[in-house]
Amino acid sequence: MPITLSSEEIREANTRYHDVAAEHYDTKWGIDFGELGLSQVTAKVTKALGRAPARYARSLEIGAGTGYFTLNLMRAGLIGEATCSDISPGMLETLADNAEELGLSVRTEIADAERLPFADASFELVLGHAVLHHIPDLQRAFAEFERVLAPGGTVLFAGEPSSYGDRLARVPKRLASTLAPVWRRALGVAPAPGDAQQQPDVALERVVDVHAFAAGELAEMAREAGFVDVRVSGEELLANWFGWTNRTLEATADPDDVPWAWRMYAYRGYLLLQTLDRSLLERRLPAAIFYNLMLAAHKR
Ligand SMILES: C[S@@+](CC[C@H](N)C(=O)[O-])C[C@H]1O[C@@H](n2cnc3c(N)ncnc32)[C@H](O)[C@@H]1O
Repeated sequence: MPITLSSEEIREANTRYHDVAAEHYDTKWGIDFGELGLSQVTAKVTKALGRAPARYARSLEIGAGTGYFTLNLMRAGLIGEATCSDISPGMLETLADNAEELGLSVRTEIADAERLPFADASFELVLGHAVLHHIPDLQRAFAEFERVLAPGGTVLFAGEPSSYGDRLARVPKRLASTLAPVWRRALGVAPAPGDAQQQPDVALERVVDVHAFAAGELAEMAREAGFVDVRVSGEELLANWFGWTNRTLEATADPDDVPWAWRMYAYRGYLLLQTLDRSLLERRLPAAIFYNLMLAAHKR
């Protein structure tokens, strides 16, 4: 049965879920701050804009998490002064540690996307990755993005689940759940400890994702907030199916038991299919069928 929560409860669940997730987030999602992360993030930004990115003097990231986008863009020399905001203090603590390790200076600010504690026209770039689908009132959030951007500034979001792509991804997830016992036997892997499903982050996982988007819906939201030059594109199809299959299988196993060779296969296979998606499918197929949507637009 679908769980109905108030906006306040959704925000609270997001804070708790991501505070718990912060410690292992980078390992779980393969967040990289080396050459791979830098090239992946730069490629996503280039794809979303439809051209090579300019350098932005002041940026604000919404739902910055552990810093995947901002820190990699700083390393690529595309951002001058960076502000990273997030509703989860735990994620921002990990971000600050990551920044320190990389020798980068960023300002962090605990903030809800719907109420940004920044003056009007403070940034040339407002960006985010995998965050819009967590925000209860998106119209209000988009009005905030527009308010804090300087005239001519850019808004850019990537990694948002498309409703159609999300439905398609249920096929590999279901298939993997069915095949999981056979997969564990074949690899000699023990099932996940019995209490894993009771852990707070697992229980909250079902309530923190509140939207999946149609491509037109995302564009409309940006236009309604006053943005122009709105561009929506899609990415990852085969890579996503492969990724969800492997993550679903792995979630049923004791993490300490999953062999290194399997993890390498999952990682390399994902990168290979990402290249295939990029070179073959993303240019030819409509944005809506991909798992991830990207949005870029400008303030007048
Ligand atoms: C899936 S994570 C993505 C983190 C990071 N952007 C990345 O790509 O690795 C979503 C992030 O959005 C944050 N978040 C959720 N709801 C939010 C809200 N209402 N306002 C601001 N941040 C929010 C979470 O705390 C979390 O750090």
